[in-house]
Amino acid sequence: MAEPLLQVRDLRISFAAGQGGEAHAVGGLSFGLEAGQTLGIVGESGSGKSQTALALLGLQSRAARVGGSVRFEGRELLGLDERALNQVRGNRIGLVFQDPMTSLNPYLSIGAQMAEVLVQHRGLSRAAALADSARMLDAVRIADAAARLRQYPHEFSGGMRQRVLIATALLCHPALLVADEPTTALDVTVQAEILELLQQLRQELGLALLFISHDLDVVAEVCERVLVMYAGRAVESGPAAQLLTAPRHPYTAGLLASRPRLDAPAGEPLRPIPGHPPDPARLPAGCAFRPRCAVAVPACETLVPELRALDESGGCACHAPLRDQGVGPGVV
Ligand SMILES: Nc1ncnc2c1ncn2[C@@H]1O[C@H](COP(=O)(O)OP(=O)(O)O)[C@@H](O)[C@H]1O
Ligand SMILES: [Mg+2]
Repeated sequence: MAEPLLQVRDLRISFAAGQGGEAHAVGGLSFGLEAGQTLGIVGESGSGKSQTALALLGLQSRAARVGGSVRFEGRELLGLDERALNQVRGNRIGLVFQDPMTSLNPYLSIGAQMAEVLVQHRGLSRAAALADSARMLDAVRIADAAARLRQYPHEFSGGMRQRVLIATALLCHPALLVADEPTTALDVTVQAEILELLQQLRQELGLALLFISHDLDVVAEVCERVLVMYAGRAVESGPAAQLLTAPRHPYTAGLLASRPRLDAPAGEPLRPIPGHPPDPARLPAGCAFRPRCAVAVPACETLVPELRALDESGGCACHAPLRDQGVGPGVV
């Protein structure tokens, strides 16, 4: 079979922690993404989502130790030098982050910032770069694009700024867009508009999308497949609809039970997962979720569960997976 667009194998990211210890931010993560497909990565804060996104592009902090393999368009990205990585970043992989204000330079017009990308990466003239930038603002549904290019970031609302960043990430027509919590800083109605825009752009441009969020509902809305991370490891993966209705991992079920829902019966309490995620410098032996798990068995104390494929639709890293059918989020 042909190699997928993106193939991450056994990605490990760690930091030195006090007294010769090591903090394992990501501990052996593997996943693949085909051209034009969507994959969502979901997990609580600190589960290693952003470190994963950054490491794909060699943007991790200098203190991070990175191991494993990230193959993209048939080429290994880990260990590439800056020059080679710059050919990939922006060109073949676009990146959108959470905070649209800090990603823009307040002193430069939007046009100057967008055009610079095309001048640098594609060697376009400034006039051609501005024309392309206007077309891309149009594509992200910003009206009156030519005039907007002359404006500064503070003249845009938060949602508009995020549209500008999405447009900027797409200027060089990448094959993959990595979006790390792109709507988390936005209010709910604006968030919905941005999610819809991402879906439309993906279809129009044939983009593959790696979409990262702490919010399972948001991820499931945008993505065909979802990977759930806990303490730096994948604990469950599968089609979005399956994870929402028939989770196999007790952590996925816990995430479902703890989310606020508009369609929940009145008065139904939220059930947060008890406890906290572990300190990555002091991961427990065995399953990292065991201290918070209501269905743990003795093996969970000593053996790290591997992500086993239960069928071709997905996998689960659990010694006591919830049965597929008829087990809702209520069990944990
Ligand atoms: N520079 C760093 N030094 C030490 N630990 C770090 C550093 N950057 C991130 N981490 C740790 O890596 C883990 C994963 O972080 P991150 O990927 O940002 O989580 P998420 O995006 O899922 O919220 C966290 O425990 C965080 O504290
Ligand atoms: Mg993050």
